[in-house]
Amino acid sequence: MKKKVLFVCLGNICRSPMAEAIFKDLVERENLSDKFLVDSAGTANYHIGKNPDPRTVQVCQEHHVKIKHQGQQICVKDLSYYDHIIAMDLQNLSNIKKIAETREQMNKIRLMRDFSEPHQNLIVPDPYYGNLEDFEEVFSILTKSCKALLEKVKEEVN
Ligand code: 4NP
Repeated sequence: MKKKVLFVCLGNICRSPMAEAIFKDLVERENLSDKFLVDSAGTANYHIGKNPDPRTVQVCQEHHVKIKHQGQQICVKDLSYYDHIIAMDLQNLSNIKKIAETREQMNKIRLMRDFSEPHQNLIVPDPYYGNLEDFEEVFSILTKSCKALLEKVKEEVN
């Protein structure tokens, strides 16, 4: 069975599609693509069907990370379907927890940076109103966290 991972932010055009792209890239490099299903979603409905923000696309391209996604909104069914639901910040975390209906669903929901920097409640900052440097910073944070996440979930697929 593939492990299913869903990255979640607010709009699903900046942070979570970038996390999805970086994580898929790491998985591909380790020849583990057949073991994972990776996607992303937003808690808001503003950008359903939209491509990622051009600044997210630019930063991914500069790092030779393929990115292809269309905006979608998380729904309660996702909390049953996916094995790991990963929030970028505390607001995302709280909004996802609000729609959880069972303890099992609740237990799948985690904060992205907890994998790389545990017990500090660190967030991936929202770069939407920022500049390209902010997107670069997000890329760097996400790379670190995605590597730590992959080390953890690799144990589940072997
Ligand atoms: P994201 O960034 O949650 O990382 O995709 C945002 C994208 C859009 C908006 C806010 C944050 N917005 O307000 O439209």
